[in-house]
Amino acid sequence: MRLLIMGAPGAGKGTQAKLITEKYNIPHISSGDIFRQEIKDNTKDGQLANKYIIKGQLVPDELTISVISKRLQKEDCNHGFLLDGFPRTIKQAHALDQLLAKLDLKLDLVINLNVSKDLIIKRLSGRRVCLKCGATYNLNTNPPKKEGICDRCGDTIILRDDDKEETVKMRLDVYENQTKPLIKYYSDQKILVHVDGNLNFRDTFKEVVKFIGDLDGKH
Ligand code: AP5
Ligand code: MG
Repeated sequence: MRLLIMGAPGAGKGTQAKLITEKYNIPHISSGDIFRQEIKDNTKDGQLANKYIIKGQLVPDELTISVISKRLQKEDCNHGFLLDGFPRTIKQAHALDQLLAKLDLKLDLVINLNVSKDLIIKRLSGRRVCLKCGATYNLNTNPPKKEGICDRCGDTIILRDDDKEETVKMRLDVYENQTKPLIKYYSDQKILVHVDGNLNFRDTFKEVVKFIGDLDGKH
């Protein structure tokens, strides 16, 4: 199955994506995670992407489309994938449609997570991440067992650079102006479903699974 999860910054895309990809055994393709890895490896692409990410702006379409196109053509995507954070502009959505058409594939389902703005700001200020293994925590709803330390790998967990208040505001504006139009885009294609992301992550996941379950039989 070929899935896409959408939603504002902090809506819980990464959290749900992890649960979905474990349950359905498909790769999790997060444009944000790919860029953060490139930044960590100090590559040319990473250096360019970082200039935009630290300001809460979108990385240029050209670079983003090229990075994701390469990733989607790796062998592990042959039997499906879950996209998280891509596409984020209409131009990216057209590029994805073209790439999938070339490979004789199409998206089966787009899950849109709806979360109130107040909750988003609370979630992002409480989020802590491990840059070593990618685990995500929340000081309010999902703290690590030992303060400041990743349960999974023992490294230090930190506030993401772009989770500072001013940058979060910019990311939310960018979402409203550039990414929200994709809701209509996929709704017109009749593949979009809305999920209440205000619930705790287990209840949200139950809703997500119901929609994915409806795809059974089509594969
Ligand atoms: P990206 O990494 O994609 O960030 P984002 O879209 O802003 O989303 P986040 O990762 O911040 O939030 P999330 O929805 O994954 O929430 P999470 O599950 O962590 O992109 C970062 C940057 O990269 C962009 O700003 C841009 O510059 C660039 N970029 C990426 N893709 C691009 C593209 N396609 N084009 C151009 N530029 C691009 O949850 C958040 C917190 O809440 C966590 O602490 C979690 O534990 C907690 N939480 C989650 N769910 C729940 C729940 N149900 N109840 C309570 N707490 C919860
Ligand atoms: Mg994320």
